[in-house]
Amino acid sequence: MTETCKLILRGKEYEIPVFEGTEKEIGIDIRKLRDTTGALTYDPGYGNTGSCKSGITYIDGDKGILRYRGYPIESLAGKFPFSQVAYLLIYGDLPTPEQAKEWRRQLTLNSFIHQGMVNFFSFFPLDAHPMSILSSMIAAMPSFYPNYEKEDINNIIVRVIGQAKTIAAFSYKKSIGEPYIYPKTDHSYCANFLRMMFASPAEEYVVPKVFEKALDLLLILHVDHEQNCSTSTVRMVGSSMANLYVSVSAGISALWGRLHGGANEAVLNMLEMIYKDGANYKKYVELAKKKDSDFRLMGFGHRVYKNYDPRAKLLKGAVDAIFAEMGINDPLLEIAKNLEEVALNDEYFIERKLYPNIDFYSGILYRAMGIPTQMFTVLFSLGRIPGWIAHWLEMRNDPDTRIHRPRQIYTGPNERYPHT
Ligand code: SDX
Repeated sequence: MTETCKLILRGKEYEIPVFEGTEKEIGIDIRKLRDTTGALTYDPGYGNTGSCKSGITYIDGDKGILRYRGYPIESLAGKFPFSQVAYLLIYGDLPTPEQAKEWRRQLTLNSFIHQGMVNFFSFFPLDAHPMSILSSMIAAMPSFYPNYEKEDINNIIVRVIGQAKTIAAFSYKKSIGEPYIYPKTDHSYCANFLRMMFASPAEEYVVPKVFEKALDLLLILHVDHEQNCSTSTVRMVGSSMANLYVSVSAGISALWGRLHGGANEAVLNMLEMIYKDGANYKKYVELAKKKDSDFRLMGFGHRVYKNYDPRAKLLKGAVDAIFAEMGINDPLLEIAKNLEEVALNDEYFIERKLYPNIDFYSGILYRAMGIPTQMFTVLFSLGRIPGWIAHWLEMRNDPDTRIHRPRQIYTGPNERYPHT
């Protein structure tokens, strides 16, 4: 017996099917709404619209809960390497030790950029934004691996995850005019990335273990977040049967916006601006509250979390521990903590349930590792790519999937003709 709810529209009564997810979320199935009632729903930004059923990530925004394939984020972050959590998201379970070893080896063996594509770096301007390079290079991959319609999707998956790291590191080396460094199979995903960023051909670079573990934590916290803007973009592009490469490239482009993944870069720029303005953080909290100012407290607020973002909580703890261990003293961290303290006790933020989100502290940690601000959203992309891939695969294998094609309510001119 299907549960239903009643809709009364212009005097007529309709029974609309209702179903429940595994965490008791209620879905009103409106797939036949227009056919039966002639009406559409209206939900700009899809804040109340479920675009799919998904078994990948569960978020409870009110309780600050985030789980990957059922595992609470706290049981994974800082306890597993990023590559194994990426495997969990894509294949549904944590890998066995043998699977983990082979998966890490495949990721490294497949992380060499096609030699035909390496030349592309020389055509980008020296100050090209690394997000522009990353999305362009991944969109170019189907030209160099053209068998994407028939090739085993698992080959494409390790190639995208592996090469994205290399493209990111190469774009940094290009920006500072240094030779490219290539990955090694005896390094983890994160150790390889840091070595490719900071090693020089003249001498071996030993990746500081504390930074390798910090990057594992950061990338794990970014791995997935259900139907956020960039993940929904990857699903939408993939729903037209576009290949995985260009679907991921579209996700990178969507992530770049400062309201989304670009916020981590915007947070650092904001903290530096406040620092240069005499660390007058209270002035900026007041500015963020003014309707007529377009200044927002970057790294604050979230569409889903109406409580402290559990990822921000973990990051804040990691920053304190790593800075203490490394004896780092960053005035920007003090400004961030003061901003948080003032905002969390201010009626404007309390009333709107605005808390620090993942982007508020991540940039401070990237900066401590020596990663330039413009690379922050690239690191967000490296973390999120396995999540995008997991959703793309789930969408492709979902019998409910149709090409994404939302409707609209037309508000333009009624029928008319030109005066002749
Ligand atoms: C990410 O979706 C995801 O899961 C995203 C993400 C992921 O992992 O994929 O979690 C990653 O994108 C995190 C968010 C990073 N963005 C920022 O930090 C940018 C700053 N935050 C905001 O712009 C905003 O909070 C959003 C974009 C995050 C959420 O926007 P919403 O849900 O559309 O909320 P809104 O803009 O309608 O704001 C509601 C009210 C408004 O005030 P009123 O009109 O009610 O008076 O809150 C105010 C807003 O002005 N507000 C802020 C604010 N964020 C919201 N006021 C000051 N500073 C802010 N940061």
